Amino acid sequence: MQLLDGKKVSEDIKLEITAEVDLMKKNGEKVPHLAAIIVGNDGASLTYVGSKVKACERVGFESTLVKMPSTTSETELLKKIKQLNEDDNIDGFIVQLPLPKQIDTQKVLMAIDPSKDVDGFHPENFGKMALDMTTFIPATPFGILELLERYNVETKGKHTVVIGRSHIVGRPMSILMGRKGFPGNSTVTLTHSYTKNIAQITTQADIIITALGVPNYLKAEMVKDGAVVIDVGITRVADDSEKGYHITGDVDFENVSKKVSHITPVPGGVGPMTIAMLLKNTLLAREQRKFASSK
Ligand code: GUN
Repeated sequence: MQLLDGKKVSEDIKLEITAEVDLMKKNGEKVPHLAAIIVGNDGASLTYVGSKVKACERVGFESTLVKMPSTTSETELLKKIKQLNEDDNIDGFIVQLPLPKQIDTQKVLMAIDPSKDVDGFHPENFGKMALDMTTFIPATPFGILELLERYNVETKGKHTVVIGRSHIVGRPMSILMGRKGFPGNSTVTLTHSYTKNIAQITTQADIIITALGVPNYLKAEMVKDGAVVIDVGITRVADDSEKGYHITGDVDFENVSKKVSHITPVPGGVGPMTIAMLLKNTLLAREQRKFASSK
């Protein structure tokens, strides 16, 4: 069994990005600048955004964290987005999801300038992704592709089963695994809450990508021998540790790992890759802005 070590690969990617930033600095060029907006006080969201900002510092990017109260109106958030769209100093920005109930998420994502949409959530970028055009690929799916590529996991002609159809992970992943090229060229089944006899489908899978948020959902009897298992779940489970919780994935790792050819651990699998690929998208955004302004 080969562990797909997202912690190690993400460190490699961050070192590659740092080298590029060092070169930019040496040439007297502007370094990439990522901004993140967070609305409200959700503990997990604050932690994720904090990690994104910290990762920017690590690689030499500039970063801006915009914290807005949970009572923020849609109009106020749209105004902030307009400011970031128009700020020449910002190369890319994200609005951390989920948003409070009073705010229409689709309206917010549509308001982001597609050239700064480093999450790849704007319909223009999502459409480009589906049409094999160069664009920002959402960071978590992008991180999974990068892991498959760096570990040379064969995807061509394989049956990939995606569990969960979220706009952030499951839906884009189902599109990307069926695209031409590597990683891709898979036959994809997208399963969700209305799927019947899911175990019958997962036991036919060469590659399983699970993004449900249900701890220990994927059991050994749902997986065939030699399958590749990618666990995108990150659920906080309360315990009596100092932190008060630990992170658990969607996969019953102890038993599933005995059957598979490759598997991602939680933590240390897909999670760190998401942050590394957000940095990669921000670097791409900077390069595109530089190119656009030199024309
Ligand atoms: N919430 C959970 N994952 C993500 C992500 O990748 N981007 C944003 N903006 N919000 C998220």
